[in-house]
Amino acid sequence: MENFDFYSPTEFVFGKDRENETGKYVKKHGGSKVLIHYGGGSVKRSGLLERVQASLDQEKIEYVLLGGVKPNPRSGLVYEGIEICKTEKVDFILAVGGGSTIDSAKAIAAGTVYDGDFWDFYMGKRIEKALPVGTVLTIAAAGSEGSPDSVITKEEGMFKRGASGDAIRPKFSILNPALTQTLPPFQTAAGITDIMAHLYERYLTNTKEVEVTDRLIEGLLLTMIHEGPRVIADPDNYEVRANIMWAGMMAHNNSCGVGRSQDWNSHNIEHELSALYDCAHGAGLAVTLPAVFTYVMDHDVMRFAKAAVRVWGCEMDFDHPEVTAKEGIERLRRFFISIGMPKNFE
Ligand code: NZQ
Ligand code: ZN
Repeated sequence: MENFDFYSPTEFVFGKDRENETGKYVKKHGGSKVLIHYGGGSVKRSGLLERVQASLDQEKIEYVLLGGVKPNPRSGLVYEGIEICKTEKVDFILAVGGGSTIDSAKAIAAGTVYDGDFWDFYMGKRIEKALPVGTVLTIAAAGSEGSPDSVITKEEGMFKRGASGDAIRPKFSILNPALTQTLPPFQTAAGITDIMAHLYERYLTNTKEVEVTDRLIEGLLLTMIHEGPRVIADPDNYEVRANIMWAGMMAHNNSCGVGRSQDWNSHNIEHELSALYDCAHGAGLAVTLPAVFTYVMDHDVMRFAKAAVRVWGCEMDFDHPEVTAKEGIERLRRFFISIGMPKNFE
């Protein structure tokens, strides 16, 4: 195992109706003037935004609103958010929505306290300082509720790039699985795919003897394989939604990735594709993941065979481990298709 630092200060507030406590957590984490950031309208239609506002009103916390975040969030709205925060003297950013809204909120948080162009962070500069961010999550997918990352698309040139820094890890994240029951099946499936990609890309490592994180990843992948088809068949099942939501957080706050090298090629390729074609991140991954795995399999056949046996229940072919490895990749591909993901870019 390699040396590592792991800092994960986010307070997770999990369960039914917990969004009604948002005001209390904003106050606890020092917010007095808040930017509430949200997406294209799902939080208005579900009544969530109203409940969050009521919770802030109850604590007498002032706020301004900025909606309109698009999936694959754009830099234009980030610049707008930074201006609002400076003019209104905002001291806390609250993201109500999915990974795109949270990532846009993180970019605004970093950009507001930075003299230069916030895009510098997406060109490689590490984020050292940011306004505090809190989240009310509405989709289990990107894991941004617990991650130190943000991914933004710059319209000029259509560059989709990531920025990182512990300063943008959320101070708190409210996770009510019931909020994900309004997701269209396609978005639920795209979220499942993204969660599995975050696990797989950590599983693919050159680091030897990392059994503890291998086993954590395998357990989470088995959970997704069990719960994925169940949630598609029974979208209102709270318990299934709860397992998926917590798995989504665990998959990407890096507790499963510490002390080992990781392989983010499928994600990097998908980011280019979603920048160019604006496809849903998870749907893009359903195509790139099995394709990249097939391409790189020979680099470490035994690792792919291990996943095939432990995660997919394949029988190990000791004479021809590449047959087992291939079968595991094929089962992954078929799983994505079975939950409604595309098999190619047509
Ligand atoms: O915009 P609204 O109206 O809210 O609709 C959204 C959006 O259309 C909808 N939605 C979300 N919750 C809903 C809902 N509809 C009904 N009911 C609900 N409860 O779902 C659509 C997708 O939302 P989005 O926020 O884009 O989804 P996701 O969480 O998958 O985020 C994707 C973004 O995260 C980035 C991706 O690249 C992509 O830009 N990633 C961020 C990461 C990070 N920060 O750590 C890591 C990931 O690997 C990923 O790259
Ligand atoms: Zn992802």
